[in-house]
Amino acid sequence: MAPLTGMLTIPLLLTGFTLYHRYISMDPETHVEDVLQVLPEYDFVVIGAGSAGAVVASRLSEVPHWKVLLLEAGGDENEVSDVPSLAAYLQLSDMDWQYKTEYTGRACLGMVKGRCNWPRGKVLGGSSVLNYMLYVRGNRRDYDLWEAAGNPGWGYPDALHYFLKSEDNRNPYLVRTPYHKTGGYMTVQEAAWRTPLVLSFVQAGTELGYENRDINGERQTGFMVAQGTVRRGSRCSTAKAFLRPVRLRKNLHIAMNAHVTRLMIDHANSKVYGVEFIRHGERQVVRARKEVVVSAGSLNTPQILMLSGIGPAEHLRKFGIPVVQNLRVGENMQDHAGMAGLTFLIDMPVAIVQARLQAAAVTSQYVFRDRGPMTLLGGVEGLGFVNTKYANASDDFPDIQFHFAPASINSDGGLQVRKCLGLTDELYDSVYAPINNRDAWTIMPLLLRPRSSGTVRLRSKNPMVYPAVDANYFADPRDIATLVEGVKIALQISRTKAFSRYGTRLHKLPIPGCKKYKFSSDAYWECAIRHMTMTIYHPVGTCKMGPPSDPTAVVDPRLRVYGVQGLRVVDASIMPNIVSGNTNAPVIMIGEKGSDLIKEDWLPGYVATSRRGEDVEGKR
Ligand SMILES: Cc1cc2nc3c(=O)[nH]c(=O)nc-3n(C[C@H](O)[C@H](O)[C@H](O)COP(=O)(O)OP(=O)(O)OC[C@H]3O[C@@H](n4cnc5c(N)ncnc54)[C@H](O)[C@@H]3O)c2cc1C
Ligand SMILES: *[C@@H]1O[C@H](CO)[C@@H](O)[C@H](O)[C@H]1NC(C)=O
Repeated sequence: MAPLTGMLTIPLLLTGFTLYHRYISMDPETHVEDVLQVLPEYDFVVIGAGSAGAVVASRLSEVPHWKVLLLEAGGDENEVSDVPSLAAYLQLSDMDWQYKTEYTGRACLGMVKGRCNWPRGKVLGGSSVLNYMLYVRGNRRDYDLWEAAGNPGWGYPDALHYFLKSEDNRNPYLVRTPYHKTGGYMTVQEAAWRTPLVLSFVQAGTELGYENRDINGERQTGFMVAQGTVRRGSRCSTAKAFLRPVRLRKNLHIAMNAHVTRLMIDHANSKVYGVEFIRHGERQVVRARKEVVVSAGSLNTPQILMLSGIGPAEHLRKFGIPVVQNLRVGENMQDHAGMAGLTFLIDMPVAIVQARLQAAAVTSQYVFRDRGPMTLLGGVEGLGFVNTKYANASDDFPDIQFHFAPASINSDGGLQVRKCLGLTDELYDSVYAPINNRDAWTIMPLLLRPRSSGTVRLRSKNPMVYPAVDANYFADPRDIATLVEGVKIALQISRTKAFSRYGTRLHKLPIPGCKKYKFSSDAYWECAIRHMTMTIYHPVGTCKMGPPSDPTAVVDPRLRVYGVQGLRVVDASIMPNIVSGNTNAPVIMIGEKGSDLIKEDWLPGYVATSRRGEDVEGKR
């Protein structure tokens, strides 16, 4: 039996087994059709088939007399992208836009040229195809704060209504509660396999006084075995969940490999009437009778808007782009930064060590039985929401989230994870290579509500040139101070009874650039965080939603771009403030709510399904 050697054996086995399996069982999840010829005109043109765009196209095409076009720059998903444990292998592939942050000297210091990799999905399903599938809704206060900032209809009861609308939860212990339901398009459940370490993680949380609870339920503070957007052991992207079931609708066209370059705007009345895109090397145009919805994600949505003359006037003029509307597009970018590589060694063979897995055995277990280690959610098994000394613990508004993984950077022998992070060879070779393939686990602490924010700016008016992404991590010193406290809570977790039974100890080889500090002192951890900075892949906020009185707002609470007709933004970029948790479920919620707003505005008598407080808070 051959050992699992990364991408060499697995894809071959997968394709072979999957074709055979389909042949004997009839695959129920037929992929959508890629329309060959786009029509000259539709009612709605949706740009980007990601977490939000797939939802919007699906919901708008429920109206039989609306013709909807969905344009996506990438191609379709495949057998490899379906495998939860192989999530990291999609990064740096052609399903990834492969962005990198600008050098700041304050963060990402352990990465090549001091720049962090920022993967973004370039595929039908968008970043929901690259993501680690963790299903997390954030804190109820996040949404109440959005509403309090002047965005009526975005408070927690409304958000919860739309979370439930999408959800098909397969874990009965949760479906029994008022916070979950079955029957929606998006399947949510635990991974089909777990290591004993995740139970220790949850137990360790209780030893420190944190409850084991549904962090998507009544309260957020606590520890839990992660829920994921997975179906029968495989990834459930928004393309699989929202587009495949409606693939036979005649009024929905999906065009892949269609790269949008610009919106077509009538300058006389600032009305958007169409979209320009490049497909198969050819420039094409399509008209929109009613609206264009931009769902290209937090980096590409601001780029498309700015290329079209919607953005900061002073910035657009630098590139000779005529200004249609002067708005703060590309600002207010917020992300969850965390620390990678905090590694704890153990003495028992219970962690994931890639070289120990038997490729043929785990692949057939996955393909034929929907089970086994390949169903792990990108390797993350447990979640915790904790309070540092800077948070008010009785508020239930934790400031640090933990991602627990039964493996660390060394567990694949340096094959892929180091590349995803972009670590320098010097750092990997001195800290992690000495423990290659040893049993280990990690906690990635991440900062839930950063005070620093960054920008997306054009580098050129050529749409094929990537925008400059400045994450601006740790510009505010409170951000790194909070993360240092997060690391210290992770160390406490490692010293609990639950983990000492495995002989858990901190891996103590220091990061080369941090040797001048006493190992494990606050100053050392600050240095370590600046070196091992990791995006948790949640950039949001670059087309901020806000009331007319807010000069930094780009869209109004109905997601219409200020001062421009026929144009909405529906994706992660509209978040006024980043939510306190992973962003996929919140973006799907934005897609659901945004679709309802569009229907309300165009269908006489349509009443959005959200009636405040009725479903859950009412049932309690
Ligand atoms: C590696 C990774 C891991 C993550 N892990 C998690 C997780 O475990 N849990 C979680 O909740 N969240 C996670 N996230 C975050 C989450 O997936 C994103 O927040 C969410 O998918 C963003 O949705 P969106 O609709 O705003 O953008 P996207 O899903 O990125 O969609 C944008 C779409 O627009 C397309 N597009 C862009 N530009 C153009 C153009 N010019 N023309 C045509 N199409 C275009 C893109 O190709 C893409 O398909 C992760 C993200 C990544 C990348
Ligand atoms: C902490 O939060 C509780 C509950 O919201 C509040 O009553 C209390 O005043 C807060 N304490 C501080 C120090 O802010």
